[in-house]
Amino acid sequence: QPVRLSDYTPPAFLVDKVELTFHLHPTATRVLSKIAFRPNPAAVERRFFLHGEGLDLVSAQIDGTPVTPDITPEGLTCTVPDAPFTWQAEVRISPETNTALEGLYMSNGMYCTQCEAEGFRKITYYPDRPDVMAPFTVRIEGDLPVLLSNGNPAAQGAGWAEWHDPWPKPAYLFALVAGELVATSGRFTTCEGRAVDLNIWVRPADQGKADYALDALIRSMKWDERVYGRAYDLDVFNIVAVDDFNMGAMENKGLNIFNARYVLASPETATDRDYENIERIIAHEYFHNWTGNRITCRDWFQLCLKEGLTVFRDQQFAGDARSHAVKRIEDVIALRARQFREDGGPLAHPVRPESYTEINNFYTATVYEKGAEVIGMLRRLVGPEGYDKALALYFDRHDGEAATIEDWLKVFEDATGRDLTQFKRWYSQAGTPRLHVTDDFKDGTYTLHVEQETPPTPGQPEKHPQVIPLAVGLLSPNGDEVVPTTVLELTEEAQNFAFEGLGARPVPSLLRGFSAPVILDRETSAEERAFLLAHDTDPFNKWEAGRALARDVLVAMLAENAAPAPAYLDALAAMARDEALDPAFRALALRLPGEDQLAEDLHSRGQTPDPLAIHAARERLKTAVAAHLGALWPQLYDQMTCPGAYSPGAADAGRRALRLTALAYLARLDRGARARTHFAAADNMTDEIGALSALLEIGAGRDELDRFARRWRDDRLVMDKWFALQVSLAHPETAVDTARRLTEHPDFNWKNPNRFRAVIGGLTMNAAGFHDGSGAGYRLVADWLIRLDAVNPQTAARMSTAFETWPRLDRARQALIRAELNRIAAREGLSRDMAEMVGRLLSVG
Ligand code: ARG
Ligand code: ZN
Repeated sequence: QPVRLSDYTPPAFLVDKVELTFHLHPTATRVLSKIAFRPNPAAVERRFFLHGEGLDLVSAQIDGTPVTPDITPEGLTCTVPDAPFTWQAEVRISPETNTALEGLYMSNGMYCTQCEAEGFRKITYYPDRPDVMAPFTVRIEGDLPVLLSNGNPAAQGAGWAEWHDPWPKPAYLFALVAGELVATSGRFTTCEGRAVDLNIWVRPADQGKADYALDALIRSMKWDERVYGRAYDLDVFNIVAVDDFNMGAMENKGLNIFNARYVLASPETATDRDYENIERIIAHEYFHNWTGNRITCRDWFQLCLKEGLTVFRDQQFAGDARSHAVKRIEDVIALRARQFREDGGPLAHPVRPESYTEINNFYTATVYEKGAEVIGMLRRLVGPEGYDKALALYFDRHDGEAATIEDWLKVFEDATGRDLTQFKRWYSQAGTPRLHVTDDFKDGTYTLHVEQETPPTPGQPEKHPQVIPLAVGLLSPNGDEVVPTTVLELTEEAQNFAFEGLGARPVPSLLRGFSAPVILDRETSAEERAFLLAHDTDPFNKWEAGRALARDVLVAMLAENAAPAPAYLDALAAMARDEALDPAFRALALRLPGEDQLAEDLHSRGQTPDPLAIHAARERLKTAVAAHLGALWPQLYDQMTCPGAYSPGAADAGRRALRLTALAYLARLDRGARARTHFAAADNMTDEIGALSALLEIGAGRDELDRFARRWRDDRLVMDKWFALQVSLAHPETAVDTARRLTEHPDFNWKNPNRFRAVIGGLTMNAAGFHDGSGAGYRLVADWLIRLDAVNPQTAARMSTAFETWPRLDRARQALIRAELNRIAAREGLSRDMAEMVGRLLSVG
């Protein structure tokens, strides 16, 4: 039943033109299609098959003559002429009862769609595969004021509208929206002179919260012109905010649809983090217009072709808009937390998977984030000019096509002359490579000995050496940089790299800028780390040195119940005080490694992590840091104010981040006194959430939680924060009960993915609470996954990844989790999504 990359065959028929008419009705929407087909000369077989799921076929005709196709649960087949012909069909669907939020569905009275990857087949019969591209004309009839689809508006009247999209596209980029909506509008003239109307559509109650999204859109359009030479290609660009959405957002041609949380913002209701996410995701979806839409994927195995590249582009954009150093650190924290975790567990898969049962299960950190890292490495290897040449060739050669990873690598080979045969392993080998590094110094020559090794992953017992760009710099003992950043290219299992003519043994700064998504293993002393924290010129490695110190301190505290090393506390204090450093950087450096990360670190040292002990040690370290840096906190708190009106820009956001970090440490010294006054005086959501979090972390904040709920009762996005925060920051012993109590709250609408993720996802993010030794956390999550799977398989299956770390736990917890996974697996009527996930989760050990 799995689909395999090696089984790809070209489509039997191509589509020249699609005309769709929608008669909207909540439970009986009629969809009329008229599709011009033509035999594909490149096809290997001539079977006419259209995908279709859950459709009620009313009638079908070929060239005007009624036909009776053979219908299966997956689609239909029919005898057709061996020449161009027109297919017409009418189907009936029920958007209101579509709780899976895939295809055409309703959210708070508004019609909307989600077709990627395979949702279009729930709207009408069609060859629903990305290598079938066609221009679409859409007519919508419905009693709603705003009727939208892809492309340019063609005509409209009372109760109807017509849209025409001239750019051939696969069905997964189809979109339709109908509802009572208001727009925040702007206009952008492209470098090619095209005037584009921009609209961000929201529900009337949310009017006024789309200004930032519009601003981010305009900046994205300019950036893509300036940096990639890519201009927009339609007369309108619409974005719609939807309350019920399975993921972040979707790049439908000319009509992006967003989870409302990544559009709506005001200083009072959105945090700095929310603003940053909005900026990033608006850019991401906009950038897909070229990397995804104009050039799409031949099949879903090539998903990283558009996602890895588009994530890489949005990261570049965010770095340009904010700080490259801070952005890189944040991206690496997220990569390690999600992708390394995935790559090291039962769900590990290559950036380009070779088989899947349900493609929705492969919108993963590996495809997206590791996919972006692979592109970053490619750029490092061929240099910025080589990269630009290759990209220009890519757009030139493949515009209008459905391409593959082979096509992508070929443009780099053709543009730069580099052989990428070995590099291609990054797309086929799963698992995080480990680098073991040792060094020696003799007669002025410093030598690095580097070995690489990738552990086995499910289905891939044997690994081969990969091409790894290792950026290194060398510092002299007095802190000067004696060798500036140089990129070493690893290609073998073991290699040596020599640096000659050095006066003294240098201190190496390895994997600068995190030049490859690998785990670096090297025995180092705390002194050397403190030295790099103080002197490294590479901001990423400066931060990394501090992070490694913190990790080692925590590991020692766990092993020996030791007190935190004073050397670490002093180094941290010096860094926190250093006014030459960006406040955002200092805030990041003061953040301790997360509990899940520490569990992984212990596991990789051959130990069995105890989630409760990790939580306790981390708490002790926080309290020790609070005490050791004592007087610095009120000082930073007073210094890092932001005069003037709230601005979500990087400078103010960085100051707020440092100030709120100080507030959180201070709360451990003054029992939350300052945090309480800060909460009461807060005039923006960043400060409000920052103060509330500081209180919850020390087990206080009951009154503030109540006040928060009274104030924000009617704002669902803010209330999501209220739900999430109290679960994720609950004391380990009360986390499960808190989550259970919140699932009984009248506002716990579990069919809304954001609310479900807030509570159930919030619990899975409270590592010590989720992994409670009784198994109560596992049981509660499993109960809810079973319940949600029956109505929304996609969101349920995604959350099952909470269990992916089970193999590194102790036997008792392993048994508890396996029992829950087996209980889920045994359910009758389990979705294909969940069945695949649970099967993979249980496939190891
Ligand atoms: N292409 C969308 C994006 O990355 C995400 C679509 C996710 N689809 C899914 N079935 N999970 O911007
Ligand atoms: Zn994307």
